[in-house]
Amino acid sequence: MTTSPRKILVTSALPYANGPIHLGHMLEYIQTDIWVRFQKQRGETCTYICADDAHGTAIMLKAEEQGISPEQLISQVQAEHIQDFEDFSIDFDNYYSTNSRENKELSQLIYNTCKDRGYIAERSITQAFDTEKKLFLSDRFIKGSCPRCKTADQYGDNCEACGATYSATELLDPVSTLSGTTPVEKESVHYFFKLPEFEAMLKQWIRSGTLQESVANKLNEWFDAGLQEWDISRDAPYFGFEIPGTTDKYFYVWLDAPIGYMASFKNLCDQRPDLDFNEYWDKSSKTELYHFIGKDIINFHALFWPALLYCTDFRTPTAIRAHGFVTINGKKMSKSRGTFIKARTYLNHLHPEYLRYYFAAKLTSSTEDLNLSLEDFRQRVNSDLVGKVINIASRCAGFINKTFSNQLSPEVSEPALIEEFISAGDSIAEHFETLEYGKAVREIMALADRANQYIDEHKPWQKIKDAGNELEVQAICSMGLNLFRILMVYLKPILPGTATQAESFLNVEPLDWHNRGQLLVEHRINKFKPMMSRIDKDKIDTLLTATTAETAREMAGNKLLKASPRKKKPAPDPIGATIKYDDFAKVDLRVARIVEASKVDGADKLLRLTVDIGLGTGVAGYKNIFAGIKLAYKPEQLEGKLTVVVANLEPRKMRFGISEGMVLAAGPGDKDIWLLEPDQGAKPGMRIK
Ligand code: MSP
Ligand code: ZN
Repeated sequence: MTTSPRKILVTSALPYANGPIHLGHMLEYIQTDIWVRFQKQRGETCTYICADDAHGTAIMLKAEEQGISPEQLISQVQAEHIQDFEDFSIDFDNYYSTNSRENKELSQLIYNTCKDRGYIAERSITQAFDTEKKLFLSDRFIKGSCPRCKTADQYGDNCEACGATYSATELLDPVSTLSGTTPVEKESVHYFFKLPEFEAMLKQWIRSGTLQESVANKLNEWFDAGLQEWDISRDAPYFGFEIPGTTDKYFYVWLDAPIGYMASFKNLCDQRPDLDFNEYWDKSSKTELYHFIGKDIINFHALFWPALLYCTDFRTPTAIRAHGFVTINGKKMSKSRGTFIKARTYLNHLHPEYLRYYFAAKLTSSTEDLNLSLEDFRQRVNSDLVGKVINIASRCAGFINKTFSNQLSPEVSEPALIEEFISAGDSIAEHFETLEYGKAVREIMALADRANQYIDEHKPWQKIKDAGNELEVQAICSMGLNLFRILMVYLKPILPGTATQAESFLNVEPLDWHNRGQLLVEHRINKFKPMMSRIDKDKIDTLLTATTAETAREMAGNKLLKASPRKKKPAPDPIGATIKYDDFAKVDLRVARIVEASKVDGADKLLRLTVDIGLGTGVAGYKNIFAGIKLAYKPEQLEGKLTVVVANLEPRKMRFGISEGMVLAAGPGDKDIWLLEPDQGAKPGMRIK
């Protein structure tokens, strides 16, 4: 390798500031964080930066929908993202925002340089325009019938039914998904980056060890189709940076997003005198630069980005590390299946290092998708981490703590076994370096098996029963703890929190890669505390239920927000008036099971219920209902209970959220309310007649 220490700058893709971090995202941040921690543990100078990707139409519309400014939205979301990452121990050196002064300056600099050098074209193009919202519509905001097979309700770029690709202007009966109106065609001036001029440079760059083979092959499709000029501008209104020399044109979010990597680093350099921006970004830089990304954003990082950097005399990346997508139980993460698991929901129920371990165990250097099978996840964590690794420490610690007043033996009894553990570190390191984490984990677990086998063979729990064996028992347990220590060195990039606990239990300095051969002899350890517990099956069920309930709640909110706001509600019937039988017959009463019940902040009498009305599995059959029964029932008393709900009540926006039905209960109110509890034969979805 190169001279030590290497100087390495590492990035993960910048998550959009319009939504929460989910477990799909987490794969990327965990993969990158493990690599960065590994480099740091080896003594390299490694800097990890990231930021929120704060610009674009989606963010602008979302803020509008919530009645707040885009700046308010992105700062709220950023705070949540930062908390999620921190709780998963993602150790960024800097986490910034693309909506920053540094990014604006760098984006303008890069654009102006491209323009001065003749690489920006300017011409008028025709696009769909929503005359009501006064917005140009990108393909995702237009729906219509497929021009080929006539299937209705297709997006503006391709047909899900027949696979045809087309441009939005070819759709039959197009409508804007923002207003429901028919878009018109409208012209405006756009700015383009002349990508085709960089074809030769790019063809060489992608074959110079920068990309995984399969990624390079994929990019060939772009070359075969012929590189096109890249549209880097968007018309006002847009949340982003104004293009210099214009008043109503903005940089397309994907122009300033990767520049956000530089800006975040620049912001860090201004706080850290040991880091020099130019040393890392000059054309002649000797430092290494790696971008970790998902396979969906390869073209932005392996075509546009290196061309822009090259054009403006900055260095190009050393390599792009693309990973595949997370699937859950074999399927794409989806809201309707209730598998869109947010980082926060996971954290509410499970230890972050379980997921770090599972992802590591399954990661390869390829762009294949990674399946998170929740049952496999549970078993793997239980058997490997709890059953093998932590078990070594807990089997040995008891004797040392109790019988030998925390003192380890003066020498190790099987130096050959220790040697085997130490030398395995070279190939494990190679696997970490090359992103073959799964292989690293397999080797580490094979060592853990060896350590357990050693203890099984020497049976300290038996030997301790006979007088005179004390020194031997101390030696066996000391061996076991020395082996455990080396294992924790190797697991530290994956399990940083557990490694810290192990360091304090073993009473040692931070475990680094190079000092792994230093043995613990005649050394005093601390009292053993359990570091990790098994995952119970019901934890997984709870996680899924919570996810489904949350998703249902969110989707209910969206439905209402998207409903036409101008529709007038009919005047209510005067109280006490009789109703016709026909009116009564319209009330759809159904048995429902209360899946989740929770308190509502700031409401004295309300509980938030998620009820299953039996219309199918998952989100589709769930309703979110606010019910005034808090004084009569504790939330935990309600979960699992059956009740009767009015299932066809029009959703209502309440101060605390959307209510999609009504729970039927009897009694005068407050504490004296009783839910109807149908007989045992009742099932969610049954109609009451
Ligand atoms: N904002 C852009 C990136 C700009 S980088 C200059 C973006 N944001 S994102 O929030 O949609 O995605 C962030 C990263 O998470 C991307 O690398 C994306 O590939 C990754 N993932 C998003 N969903 C994922 C899975 N289900 N599985 C694995 N990675 C996923 O793209
Ligand atoms: Zn079609």
